[in-house]
Amino acid sequence: MEAEITLTVDGTAHRLTVDTRTTVLDALRERLGITSPKKGCDHGQCGACTVLADGRRVNSCLMLAVAFDGARITTADGLVEDGEPHPVQRSFVEHDAFQCGYCTPGQVVSAVGALDEMREGWPSAATDEGGGMDEEIRERMSGNLCRCGAYANIVPAIAEVVQ
Ligand code: FES
Repeated sequence: MEAEITLTVDGTAHRLTVDTRTTVLDALRERLGITSPKKGCDHGQCGACTVLADGRRVNSCLMLAVAFDGARITTADGLVEDGEPHPVQRSFVEHDAFQCGYCTPGQVVSAVGALDEMREGWPSAATDEGGGMDEEIRERMSGNLCRCGAYANIVPAIAEVVQ
């Protein structure tokens, strides 16, 4: 079964016909050629596919595109404004917060979503337990895995943007 949907990705509206079983990730990568969201596990475990959907971070590999008809999707590409990287992207570079880079687009998008959640005061387990900022960031970024183990630089990269 197919459905016609509209996805607005990084500010550009795309009208497309998709199989109703198509995920947002496959719609982005295979139908629209937007490859910054990565397919790591395809099972909601690694976070490499993270995008913002109407401002909230989601694992796009778990989401059916038909459920996001009309949504605004933001990828790592869409964080760049007027050729300038987002402060989180700049901080990742300055802190050398990656090695192979495969997980980085998802890490960066997730960090932007996490920072918005923190500004809005969404509670996390780390907050409840009185943990410091680094612990807060680790908790909020726990859905994004880095097989290279760049966490030691990812956490301070995000912490710098919080301040
Ligand atoms: Fe979606 Fe791993 S590819 S969580």
